[in-house]
Amino acid sequence: MAQLLENYSLKKHNTFGIEAKAKYFFEFETEAEIQDFLKKNDIIDTQYIILGGGSNLLFTEDFDGLVLHPNITGIELLDEDEDSVLLRVGCNEEWDEFVEWAVNNDLYGIENLSLIPGKIGASPVQNIGAYGVEVREVIENVEAISIESKDAVIFSNARCEFDYRNSVFKNEYKNLFIITHVQFRLKKKSDLKLQYGAISKELEAYDEINLKNIRKAIIKIRESKLPDPEELGNAGSFFKNPIVDKEKADKLKAQFENMPSYEVNDSETKLAAGWLIEQCDWKGKRFGDAGVHKDQALVLVNYGNANGNDILKLANDIRKSVMFKFGVKLEMEVNAI
Ligand code: EPU
Repeated sequence: MAQLLENYSLKKHNTFGIEAKAKYFFEFETEAEIQDFLKKNDIIDTQYIILGGGSNLLFTEDFDGLVLHPNITGIELLDEDEDSVLLRVGCNEEWDEFVEWAVNNDLYGIENLSLIPGKIGASPVQNIGAYGVEVREVIENVEAISIESKDAVIFSNARCEFDYRNSVFKNEYKNLFIITHVQFRLKKKSDLKLQYGAISKELEAYDEINLKNIRKAIIKIRESKLPDPEELGNAGSFFKNPIVDKEKADKLKAQFENMPSYEVNDSETKLAAGWLIEQCDWKGKRFGDAGVHKDQALVLVNYGNANGNDILKLANDIRKSVMFKFGVKLEMEVNAI
């Protein structure tokens, strides 16, 4: 049942594990409950945020507003044909539990996205991606409630305007829709994506290349590099991999021979933020309880009692030094609130 709480601690609702209180916290389990709440309380001109699993958020102070927390769960089969199934998944399902479920049911398409922290509802917002796959490849529709009109709206894949770590929900419609369900089209026939170097290398240790082993391999790679938020507060990649002009990338490559880079199109190149940060000597550094992870410089961590500003200060120092050494601007992937 829906409930409105006051002065509610958000520590358990952000994977950085930062203590911050919300003035109001509204949790709901159905579309009807939130529509009813919005009809009674027009919130469009007040301060509010929509909070899923909090795996991409950094609170820098108490939140003097309303937090909307959808607790909609369930996996439903909407459609099935010879080659695929269409599934409708509640926004508060844990992303990785859905991946595990799909793999156990021999459904292909999201196995490379194993172990990404967060909820289903957040997956389209930043178009989560890893090991050569982005979630946009399997999303058919996104269901949401409009905060303005209070209506239920369905966004087709095209209307989501997906891009690298980006979608319409981070831009034009930022904070204007509450994603309630996501519809995924998964394949019944084998379609494995193995082009990402680290995967094929890890798979050499297994006798067979199949869905379950790919999930295992990816979990192994991630666990070896990325800290578990349950053990060490973090929000995955803190920065996006920067995209620069090809010309700029070529100049840098001439200067730094080992610099990893990936062609985006004829005129743009993506650089590895983790590499740039490591070259500036940040990897493994710790300042009080805020630090840069020892195995993946793209991840900032909270050793216990860092607050949001400690993390933000570290992030800004990192950005300055990358700008100084490489002339490259790092953008945050995490949202500071
Ligand atoms: N690298 C370093 N030092 C580091 C980290 C990376 O030199 O500390 C180098 C690596 O050796 C490699 C390159 O940078 O040559 C790329 O590294 P990696 O394959 O680990 O991936 P990434 O670009 O750092 C991205 C995603 C991750 C995702 C991995 C795997 C972004 C912002 N991050 O990281 O996503 O798991 O690829 O596909 O695109 C997340 O968003 O939370 C996340 C972990």
